[in-house]
Amino acid sequence: MASGRPPPLHRSTPESIPNHGRNFTIIPPDQQVQSETPGNLHPYTRPLTISDLESCIALENAAFSDPNERASREKFIYRLTKCGELCLGIFCTVDPASGFKAETLATGKPIETSRKNGAVSVLLGHVVAAKTNDALATDVSMDYPKDWESKSPQPSAVGHHEAGRTIVLHSVAVLPGFQGRGIGQTLAKAYVQQMAGAGIADRLALIAHDHKVSWYEKLGFVNKGKSEAQFGGGGWYNLVKYFTFLISDEC
Ligand SMILES: CC(C)(COP(=O)(O)OP(=O)(O)OC[C@H]1O[C@@H](n2cnc3c(N)ncnc32)[C@H](O)[C@@H]1OP(=O)(O)O)[C@@H](O)C(=O)NCCC(=O)NCCS
Repeated sequence: MASGRPPPLHRSTPESIPNHGRNFTIIPPDQQVQSETPGNLHPYTRPLTISDLESCIALENAAFSDPNERASREKFIYRLTKCGELCLGIFCTVDPASGFKAETLATGKPIETSRKNGAVSVLLGHVVAAKTNDALATDVSMDYPKDWESKSPQPSAVGHHEAGRTIVLHSVAVLPGFQGRGIGQTLAKAYVQQMAGAGIADRLALIAHDHKVSWYEKLGFVNKGKSEAQFGGGGWYNLVKYFTFLISDEC
């Protein structure tokens, strides 16, 4: 666990807010503004679309300090276009004049055109994924076909395969200023619930570094050992979350 992460908010406001788990009063104290709803973000999730591209890139750049571990702009365009329904964002509504700080504020989208204060929906975290025929996340599944926009793309094992029964999570990220406060777990739980409920796959798969393995195990992922994937320099572990206990473990 990174020692620099801020404590969960309920520890910083014990008198004012009863601890019922996540309370989502998640703006750091030094960024809170005095307004009608001081500090309350009320995050919500929705599938991502290509219109979220710039916010996803800004979030990815902020969350992954190692550029080699970031998904490229081209991969975001491909995944948000081909399978945005497999990608989920967690957002909050922000009045741009409130002093709220986030790397994704500038690319936030207006909530309603009739809002007088020009409130925007700001991306706090995302899960970006695609489907594969493999049982694990591999370098092949994490790549994308370079000719996908041509009139007749060549058949290829790489990239998104609609008939695949494994959803590979390519990016799970929360803005650094909002990490360690339950946003990531809330987003991941919502994602698992939505994908399992949709019945479109048998499992989720991803690769993670050893220090993140326990974070995924808390969500019910199983550590399948070292991955052969060389993405971002390698050194990953395979994590799999099965949607039903009836699925056999073929890995
Ligand atoms: C990984 C990440 C998405 C987690 O999001 P987050 O919002 O910080 O996580 P949460 O606050 O929801 O974590 C909730 C719980 O996990 C714990 N936790 C956080 N980081 C952890 C870690 N590295 N290992 C184990 N547990 C961890 C928290 O203490 C908390 O526990 P609690 O519910 O018992 O209090 C976020 O840290 C991030 O974006 N990191 C950079 C990008 C990255 O590495 N992504 C993962 C690629 S595999």
